[in-house]
Amino acid sequence: MNVITTVDGFRHARASFDQIGLVPTMGYLHAGHLSLVRQARQECGAVAVSIFVNPTQFAPHEDFTRYPRDLERDLQMLADEGVDLVFTPEVSEMYPGGFGTAVVLPAADEVLEGAARPDHFRGVATVVCKLLNIVQPTKAYFGQKDAQQTVVVCQMVRDLNMLTQIVIAPTVREADGLAMSSRNSYLTPEQRAAATVLYRALTAARELLTSGERRGDVLRQIMAEVLAREPLARPEYASVADPLTLRELTEVGPRGALISLAVRVGAVRLIDNLLV
Ligand code: PAJ
Repeated sequence: MNVITTVDGFRHARASFDQIGLVPTMGYLHAGHLSLVRQARQECGAVAVSIFVNPTQFAPHEDFTRYPRDLERDLQMLADEGVDLVFTPEVSEMYPGGFGTAVVLPAADEVLEGAARPDHFRGVATVVCKLLNIVQPTKAYFGQKDAQQTVVVCQMVRDLNMLTQIVIAPTVREADGLAMSSRNSYLTPEQRAAATVLYRALTAARELLTSGERRGDVLRQIMAEVLAREPLARPEYASVADPLTLRELTEVGPRGALISLAVRVGAVRLIDNLLV
């Protein structure tokens, strides 16, 4: 496994491969990340993983400096998976002095995570655009766990005529339903137990929907009720939205719904979703 920190070094190493799959990450890897790596290996033969905690997608008050990091452990996990190339640039390599371009999708900032985290998707789209240009992967892999991120990346690739095919992989969960996330490591044991409320709220809405309830308000209300029963949980939003436009639905139609949540458990902000 070749671990590379510079753009030029990466381009040079990448030239030895024809097809390659890319899994962009911010590290502190877990089984969710590894599921993307395995799918990339199966479909593309060779796999590149980027590990870069991207400062531009964090707001000043967010957790950029204390975002969990353990490069040595990450590299061991990736070596065990047979990953070919790892790209671990410093911030100064990705954003050298004079850097001045951004990829902006204004519509993404109006709903869900975009509304809650202004400039977040500008940071995500810009760094993913850079990574796709640096790596030039045949396919790039993203998790359904970050549903709006997948919508943003697909739109960017379509709008900017980028050649990489975007693949979206299912959310990997713990045995009790909690979606795997690097941020779960912030949770105390008590908060970890309370965090299962996200999946319980989502599945309650899914059950109601599959049993025939189509009214968005009723589905949002059942999630609010489940969340209200967990004293450690402070909901930010409970959404039933169109899977493509991400606009809130009055009635769920034939396209189905993206049911999604953002909830604070203590100071930790968790998100999860189900596509129904
Ligand atoms: P990060 O949170 O490290 O996630 C990297 C990739 O793993 C994302 O595509 C994310 O959706 C996926 N992922 C995370 N948890 C998952 C789970 N439980 N099951 C399946 N996939 C999961 O998302 C980012 O980093 C960044 O925004 C990035 C795209 C790297 C840009 O900086």
